Amino acid sequence: VNMKAPLLLILTVWLNTQYGGCALSSSCSVPPSKWCSSLDSAIQCGVLKQCLESNFTRDHKAADPIEVGLYYESLCPGCRMFLTQELLPTWVMLSDIMTVDLVPYGNAQEKHDGQKYTFECQHGEQECLGNMIETCLLNMTQAAFQIIYCMESSADVIKAAQSCVTLYDPSLQWGKVMNCVNGNQGNQLMHLNAVKTKDLNPPHQYVPWVTINGKHTEDLQQKAMNSLFTLVCSMYQGSKPAMCGGAKRHYKSYCDKE
Ligand SMILES: *[C@@H]1O[C@H](CO)[C@@H](O)[C@H](O)[C@H]1NC(C)=O
Ligand SMILES: *[C@@H]1O[C@H](CO)[C@@H](O)[C@H](O)[C@H]1NC(C)=O
Repeated sequence: VNMKAPLLLILTVWLNTQYGGCALSSSCSVPPSKWCSSLDSAIQCGVLKQCLESNFTRDHKAADPIEVGLYYESLCPGCRMFLTQELLPTWVMLSDIMTVDLVPYGNAQEKHDGQKYTFECQHGEQECLGNMIETCLLNMTQAAFQIIYCMESSADVIKAAQSCVTLYDPSLQWGKVMNCVNGNQGNQLMHLNAVKTKDLNPPHQYVPWVTINGKHTEDLQQKAMNSLFTLVCSMYQGSKPAMCGGAKRHYKSYCDKE
C-alpha cells in the first residue's frame, strides 16, 4: 500500500482551502469563466477568495457618501493646517464617497444690529473678512473648495484671495465677490453660518471642529485629525474605491514550488 497517497490527498484539500484553488477539487464542474457566477461554484472550484475580491473591485456597490463637516475660521492656524493637509487632499481623492460642508465662522460672535448682523472674530477684522470671502465663494462658484484651499495655503490668506479666484474660476469677477462680501447677501449667509454653528450638538469647544455624518465625538475628531482619509475609507459602507487600498490587500496567495 502506498502510504503517500492519503497524505497527498489531505495536502491537496488543505492547499485548496488555504490557497484558494491551486489544486482543483473534482467537484468543480463549471468552466473557469463561470467560477465566480455563484457562491457554490466559487467554493467548489476553490476560488472563493478570488471571486469575492474580483467582485469587490468590479461592482461598485453604492452607499451614502460620508458627510464631513468642518466648522472653522479663516485665520486659525490649526484650521488652516487641517483644511489644507487633511480635508482637501482627502476630498480630491475620495470625492466619490464623501461630501464636504465648510462652515467658516468658528468662534466668532454675532450681534443683531437693526436690519443687519455684525460679527466679531477671534483673530480680528481680517479673519471676519476671510470668513466672509470664503462664505460668498461657497455660494457663488463650483470652484470654491479649490479657491479656499489656495487661500488657506498661501502666506497671506486675504491678499491671496483675488489671484486664487482668477486662477480657479476666471469667469468669476472679483467685484462680484466683493459685492457679496460688503452687501446684504454676505451678511445673511454669514448669519446662517452663525446659526449652524450655534446649533451644533454637542456645542463646539474649539476649532477646527469636525462632524462626520452630522455627528461629533472626541473619537471621530481624533481619527479625522490623524487621517481623515483612513476614517472616510473605513466608514464608507459601499464597495471601497481602489484608492482606499481594498484592491491591494489579498495578493499574497502563492503556489509553492514542490
Ligand atoms: C459575484 O457577483 C455576481 C454578480 O454580482 C454574483 O451573482 C455572484 O454571486 C458573486 N460571487 C461571489 C462569489 O460572491
Ligand atoms: C446662495 O445663497 C442664497 C441665499 O442668499 C440661496 O438661496 C442659494 O441657494 C445659495 N446658492 C448656493 C449655490 O449655495
